[in-house]
Amino acid sequence: MYKLTAYTIACLLISLDARSVPDNYNEERRALLDEETITAVGGKINLNEDENKANDVLMRWKMRELNDSYINPQHFNFSKHYFSYKKDIEDSKVYQIIRRMPKGAVLHVHSSLMLHADMLVKLTYEDHLYACHTYDDLKLQFSETTPERPCQSKWTLVSDMRNSSGDPAAFDSQLKKYFTLYREDGEDFNFVDINTVWQRFNKVYYVIKSLISYRPVREKYWYATLEQFYNDNIMYIEVRTGLHGLYELDGTQHDKKYLVELFKNVTNKFIEDHPEFIGVKLIVTKHRALSINQVFDALNLTRAVKAEMPDMIAGFDLVGQEDIGRPLTDFLPVLSEARNDINFYLHAGETAWLGTSADENLVDAILLGSKRIGHGYALTKHPSLMSAVIKKDIALEVNVISNVVLSLVHDVRNHPLASYLAMGLPVVLSSDDPGAWSARPLTDDFFVAFMGIASQRADLRMLKQLALNSITYSALEDEGKDRLFKVFSKRWDTFVKDIISDKSFSEIDFDRNID
Ligand SMILES: *[C@@H]1O[C@H](CO)[C@@H](O)[C@H](O)[C@H]1NC(C)=O
Ligand SMILES: *[C@@H]1O[C@H](CO)[C@@H](O)[C@H](O)[C@H]1NC(C)=O
Ligand SMILES: *[C@@H]1O[C@H](CO)[C@@H](O)[C@H](O)[C@H]1NC(C)=O
Ligand SMILES: *[C@@H]1O[C@H](CO)[C@@H](O)[C@H](O)[C@H]1NC(C)=O
Ligand SMILES: *[C@@H]1O[C@H](CO)[C@@H](O)[C@H](O)[C@H]1NC(C)=O
Ligand SMILES: [Zn+2]
Repeated sequence: MYKLTAYTIACLLISLDARSVPDNYNEERRALLDEETITAVGGKINLNEDENKANDVLMRWKMRELNDSYINPQHFNFSKHYFSYKKDIEDSKVYQIIRRMPKGAVLHVHSSLMLHADMLVKLTYEDHLYACHTYDDLKLQFSETTPERPCQSKWTLVSDMRNSSGDPAAFDSQLKKYFTLYREDGEDFNFVDINTVWQRFNKVYYVIKSLISYRPVREKYWYATLEQFYNDNIMYIEVRTGLHGLYELDGTQHDKKYLVELFKNVTNKFIEDHPEFIGVKLIVTKHRALSINQVFDALNLTRAVKAEMPDMIAGFDLVGQEDIGRPLTDFLPVLSEARNDINFYLHAGETAWLGTSADENLVDAILLGSKRIGHGYALTKHPSLMSAVIKKDIALEVNVISNVVLSLVHDVRNHPLASYLAMGLPVVLSSDDPGAWSARPLTDDFFVAFMGIASQRADLRMLKQLALNSITYSALEDEGKDRLFKVFSKRWDTFVKDIISDKSFSEIDFDRNID
């Protein structure tokens, strides 16, 4: 057996010393790391005394929840599909902290896919709702009498279907499956290809749209949506909407402008009930599969509505799966003309392909003067475009869970957001279609980004900067931003005190949990 004598120890020490690092090495190493810390999103924020205490609480729980994964990577939930760990996230202390955190604004959401499926099921209890149910398809319509539209089975009142099912709870849980992609015990979504996921996603969208095209239900839908966002500590929303027509029970159709008025009226009612809520602006959208003339008409409509209700309209965007849709270049003539009086918030680079037209949409979004870019997932692969984004200060609307569910990324550690955060790019976190995957309005996206994507060192400063970015890069005018900053700052102070004083986050509880 080899024995450590005093002599061998001395020799080891001498040889270690002989191979010792240069004096200034550690200093240089420290300096490089410090530079990176300052460059990253949140790096320039100084925390006050209370914030530092809250940060200690946050970081202690963060390390506790993550550190096992460094040794047992198979326990690392964020490298699995969101659906596989979704039901457990509420137990996380970090999640609970982020839930309470004021998050500022949500700048990238689609109007029909914001509300949780449980609430949509509740809306099916409204009178006069008929369903046409075939094998795996569901159409809904409110009507005084049986709808005349063709149905491959038979139009039936949902209330009758529910009653005759004999088990309303089971009926509702079947119904709910049409309103969300989330399946608690479903197949492994990581093996579903991107086009198949998008087809299912579009199907969910059409069912929901058929439920909320009825004016009284749309009013309830919108109020309930605002409530959910408000309860997730969001005080302002920019909503993408196609401005589809609504109908009344007797079949009367409203024009597209009517929906803008409805958004405005219901939001005003909500603000009356919740004075700290700042409001809503709309980004009018058109599907990218449509013709240049249809996009032209949509731009014209946007212009007309903006002239009438300037506070309500932020701008214009094209939506739908980019990989298989028309590239922005197809619409250049109409988009170039409209850019003088309509702001663009274009989806671009929501693709995993490189060098395709979807990937190159990023070029056109930048050249067309897009105020922000929706997703910009492909941006890290384009150094020149990245410089342009930095120079023009174009915010990137990143929707992490959307990218997982819609099959762009499987292990979120590889999400480009990690680089955007490290480089200190103007990033805002958003949730795209939280209703379509039964996520909370924004907490889940913040949580996954913070735990699964950002640096292990990222802390409360990054979270605060992301919330502040959502205000800075919003389409609010200065006065609105000021009000939002004030509301945010007041709520932030309350949040910080709350985290410090809440016993459930305290060290005592923490130690007890370790046993
Ligand atoms: C992980 O966290 C636990 C709980 O705080 C702690 O006891 C342990 O030392 C940590 N392990 C590592 C590797 O940091
Ligand atoms: C990860 O997910 C598993 C089961 O899905 C759950 O039991 C566990 O608590 C989760 N871990 C964390 C850190 O959230
Ligand atoms: C539900 O069905 C039962 C018979 O199955 C009937 O007696 C009852 O009136 C129905 N209720 C409603 C609300 O339609
Ligand atoms: C909105 O409110 C105004 C004023 O109360 C009213 O005249 C208008 O009809 C309402 N429009 C909608 C769509 O609710
Ligand atoms: C643009 O919209 C206005 C108002 O909706 C309408 O009167 C006009 O005809 C439209 N112009 C074109 C060229 O479509
Ligand atoms: Zn989107």
